Amino acid sequence: MQTFQEILAKRLADALAKAGLPNAGELTQATDSRFGDYQTNAALVLGKQRGENPRAVASKILEHLEVSDLSEPPSVAGAGFVNFKLRAEAIAKATAQLFGDDRLGVAKSASPKKIVIDFGSPNVAKPMHVGHIRSTALGDALARTAAFIGHDVIRDNHIGDWGTQFGMVIWGWKNLLDRDALERDPLAELVRVYKEANARSTSDPVVREACRQELVKLQSGDKENLDIWNECVALSMQDFEHVYDLLDIHYDIQCGESFYNDRLPEVVDRLLKSKIAEISEGAVVVFFPDVPELADKPCIIRKSDGGFNYATSDIATVEYRTSELKRDTLWYVVGAPQTLHFKQIFEIARREGHEGDFRHIPFGNVLGEDRKLMKTRSGENVPLRQVLEEACNRARKIIDEKNPDLSDQEKTEIAQIIGIGAVKYADLSQYRMTDYVFSWDKMLALQGNTAPYLQNAYVRVRSIFRKANESAPKIDKFVLTDAAEIGLAKKLCQFAEIVPQVLNDFRPNILANYLFELANSFHSFYEACPVLKSGEPSRSSRLALCDLTGRVLERGLDLLGIKAPEKM
Ligand code: ARG
Repeated sequence: MQTFQEILAKRLADALAKAGLPNAGELTQATDSRFGDYQTNAALVLGKQRGENPRAVASKILEHLEVSDLSEPPSVAGAGFVNFKLRAEAIAKATAQLFGDDRLGVAKSASPKKIVIDFGSPNVAKPMHVGHIRSTALGDALARTAAFIGHDVIRDNHIGDWGTQFGMVIWGWKNLLDRDALERDPLAELVRVYKEANARSTSDPVVREACRQELVKLQSGDKENLDIWNECVALSMQDFEHVYDLLDIHYDIQCGESFYNDRLPEVVDRLLKSKIAEISEGAVVVFFPDVPELADKPCIIRKSDGGFNYATSDIATVEYRTSELKRDTLWYVVGAPQTLHFKQIFEIARREGHEGDFRHIPFGNVLGEDRKLMKTRSGENVPLRQVLEEACNRARKIIDEKNPDLSDQEKTEIAQIIGIGAVKYADLSQYRMTDYVFSWDKMLALQGNTAPYLQNAYVRVRSIFRKANESAPKIDKFVLTDAAEIGLAKKLCQFAEIVPQVLNDFRPNILANYLFELANSFHSFYEACPVLKSGEPSRSSRLALCDLTGRVLERGLDLLGIKAPEKM
């Protein structure tokens, strides 16, 4: 089924053709609902292009525009916008189609992509901290949305499990490890050892050299060091897995940096041979003289001591994903500080002849209430696992108060759904580049643009059906009379227009905000329009609207990686 936006855009294109005008401008949802539901700036764009009065162009378009089956007579506003206000019968018809559609109107992409989404990607020997929620939640939401639209998605966790830090980890393991502490809390001990080794190697050249030696041994395949490395990776992975379980996030592959180890010499050889890289002061380097922002930012792919870099493994990663995984689209959900790194990688890939669509999807920071990077009192990063557990505990208190009669097990399950949902939603409902303040009170509030508010709207829908002891009615006609039910139906029809927009600029916040507006429309409807107590045909039509609202909320939240509870 087509959306109103698509149908109106088609009608506009027809009108322009009939008026002898080129197709121009856009047809979008109205920015201000007082003027209508949809608008186009076509007359403005054409007026400018042709040096004509936009209002005159608009009249010409209106002469040829045939939309009477969908819209009230379109009006021209301001400098030349054409506005459309949908007719209730058209909305009712579209709602009936939507009601019978499992995909809630969302079309599958006509040109499905083969995507790798690289997200999360934490580093070994460091716990995942609260900042990791951004890449993790955002990447997962994009993966879910892309898959729903019909793209073929591989989710890859590019774990930082190799590199210079392992010299320090291994030296620390050999010299500083407290076996009892390791027994009690393995990851905490691993992190302590790494931190201390790091501090010592900064202040003591002897330790620094010793760490370097351990790294060289590891890289040349020393058995003891490889065993230690393996154990450290396994310990970190356990912690990551626990967090992923809580978050309900799953990867298709987890090819960390170490996976690409054997391929690095070949990468360097290849780039030297093709003259993309050159030898400079003993190192192998790629220069970018003709890329302004990289002109003074060469990329070292082999250090003068023979070691490889983070960049080298990313070049190998591009090759693997395109040639072996046969992907045409690579998305990297990684913080903004790595912008330059990805510019370099993509530029090198381009020079190597890759034509795929490669995107760095950056994001801002999570701030504490003091508006500085969120830290614990002692200035440490806040472990993500602790944040998630606290979210569940806080949600549990809310449920204890709100719904004391639920069983203990139900309460625990719901608390997890609400707590985790709140943390994810607080993140996803912001534009990704915006830094946001992490606030328990705000994210767990039952009112406002929060996950619990949306989940509560869903619960309300479900409770209507429980109360009626009925399931969704089987109808193929909606009767929409009250303004609030027209408003709700119209919002439901927009779901299919919103979902694809999420991928335009990688903005799940567009979907989040839509769901918030939908929940608001539902509450207005619920206040204005009796459902179970109204007579037929209104009763069935309204019940069906409730059902549809529940389905859209559930699906929309699911695309954000958030569950909708039956009760709360
Ligand atoms: N482990 C890296 C970090 O924490 C992120 C890896 C992102 N992915 C990539 N292919 N470079 O900074």
